[in-house]
Amino acid sequence: MKILDASFVISAVRSEQYPTDGLPEIALAGRSNVGKSSLINKMMLRKNLARASSQPGKTQQLNYYLVNNEIYLVDFPGYGYAKVSKARREQFGQMVESYVREREVLRLQLLVVDVRHDPTKDDQLMYEWLKHYDIPMVVVATKADKIPRSRWDKHLKAIRTTLQMGASDKVVLFSSETGQGRDELWSIIYESISA
Ligand code: GTP
Ligand code: MG
Repeated sequence: MKILDASFVISAVRSEQYPTDGLPEIALAGRSNVGKSSLINKMMLRKNLARASSQPGKTQQLNYYLVNNEIYLVDFPGYGYAKVSKARREQFGQMVESYVREREVLRLQLLVVDVRHDPTKDDQLMYEWLKHYDIPMVVVATKADKIPRSRWDKHLKAIRTTLQMGASDKVVLFSSETGQGRDELWSIIYESISA
């Protein structure tokens, strides 16, 4: 994927702030600290456009990034971070929920999990919920560089089993360190917006 242009657009806290130009959107959900912002940076080949940090719970809005003036990548607040207050959690939950259910330009939802660990209860709930609403979805198992290649298969299988994924459902193995999975993910994204 040739990145001609990548920019941060807006941190939206209300739906009125979402872009109105009708461009397709690819959204990323996943637990706090799993690597969503790093993945976005790697996809855009930008070091620090999406704020990656070791402080979990940092991304608290829907952050919009525009790539090549044709696609938005939308970074969700991470879930499952205990220190965020319950009221705030509910507010973000509602925002994400109505976005996913009502946003017509949402073409593909990425569910980002850590390849090293079995998906959490929250991951399972998110997966089931996206399935329930029939949202086109791809699971991205990131941080592949953190385990030896010989264990990738075993871990991918465990993720499939825990999420009870169907045989035709996709998992992409990814690393924001090495760029592994980047080309595959861009092809999947392009397929989803041209469908
Ligand atoms: P929130 O915004 O808090 O929800 O977190 P996030 O999901 O955006 O995670 P973020 O991208 O900030 O990454 C969290 C930490 O994991 C950072 O220290 C990253 O450098 C590290 N990290 C993310 N992806 C990878 C990866 O593929 N490989 C390695 N080795 N580290 C990664
Ligand atoms: Mg983030």
